[in-house]
Amino acid sequence: MISIAKPLIGEEEKRAVIEVLDSGVLAQGPKVAAFEEAFARMVGVKYAIATSSGTTALHTALLAHGIGAGDEVITSSFTFIASANSILYVGARPVFVDIDPATFNLDPAKIEAAITPATRAIMPVHLFGLPADMDPILQIARKHSLIVIEDACQSHGAQYKGRRAGSMGTGCFSMYPTKNITSAEGGMITTDDAEIAENCRVIRQHGMRRRYYHDEMGFNFRMTDVHAAIGLAQLQKLESFNETRIANAQFLSAHLRGVITPQVPQGYRHVFHQYTVRAPNGLRDALLEHLKHREIGSGVYYPVPIHQQTLYTQELGYDVRLPETEKAAAEALSLPVHPALSRTDLEAIVSAVNECTGV
Ligand SMILES: Cc1ncc(COP(=O)(O)O)c(C=O)c1O
Repeated sequence: MISIAKPLIGEEEKRAVIEVLDSGVLAQGPKVAAFEEAFARMVGVKYAIATSSGTTALHTALLAHGIGAGDEVITSSFTFIASANSILYVGARPVFVDIDPATFNLDPAKIEAAITPATRAIMPVHLFGLPADMDPILQIARKHSLIVIEDACQSHGAQYKGRRAGSMGTGCFSMYPTKNITSAEGGMITTDDAEIAENCRVIRQHGMRRRYYHDEMGFNFRMTDVHAAIGLAQLQKLESFNETRIANAQFLSAHLRGVITPQVPQGYRHVFHQYTVRAPNGLRDALLEHLKHREIGSGVYYPVPIHQQTLYTQELGYDVRLPETEKAAAEALSLPVHPALSRTDLEAIVSAVNECTGV
């Protein structure tokens, strides 16, 4: 069986975990601080704040910017539910804008029409490892005095015109096991803004600026040192993991037939968290079946866009049409691209897909 995702855990991660367990400092200790420092360096920002997950990173970042009830945040509907639900957690309303079919990311040309007096922020999602088109997004944000929170949960080490994902707004990352690097569970917020960084640290720790004095609402969103030890060891391997993902993607794009392979616009570094093709006209479901038969894992990210999820239609009353998002949900199929794949695995994926498409 060729799996769709596989965390690569080596001796370094195991040794680092044992070291933490032997140290007696298990949470919010020196490993967390070291992981934060190394992560900030990787992204190219001054501050990184570790959290318990990507979801809590997004939740914390929104709170740190003072976003709350009555506010609207523009984001994509073609993403994991956590992107939009984090906006709900703070009492704000996600406003969905359609995607650019070439990249699966927010279409900047459609953002301004969605801005209202209640809009406070734009949350682009760098989906599948490809950054959103940030220059026009940042320009719109400046023009309308909006905050930019990058959902970079799938794009560790990705680049947009020389800038790293997570360095162009307030960045939020996930270290869930399927991600380009993992800490088992974990999240990270990245920023150059000292005040936002401090707000994040306070929110992560029960609103505590002075030990056991609580002037504001906060949560327990801390990372443990056990998780940070895994994450730090993984971070040393990020570049080689990403290079292998990119090489695997290049092999697939060079050999796959009968499907639309992923686009990488000029000046972008796509780090292929997912390698997502489009298979139109009912071919997607045939491919899913065929790959399963061949013992090749594949995934549909995401079969139901967020604006069509029952929570949003039934409970929250969303009734919007996003034609490109809905088309992508019907056509997208992700194939294995992770760094543990062998050349034989890649060849098996190619021949199974080409066999099914018949091209
Ligand atoms: C785009 C996106 N946003 C947010 C999240 C939430 O991250 P986590 O699962 O670490 O809470 C994920 C990861 O699953 C994601 O892919």
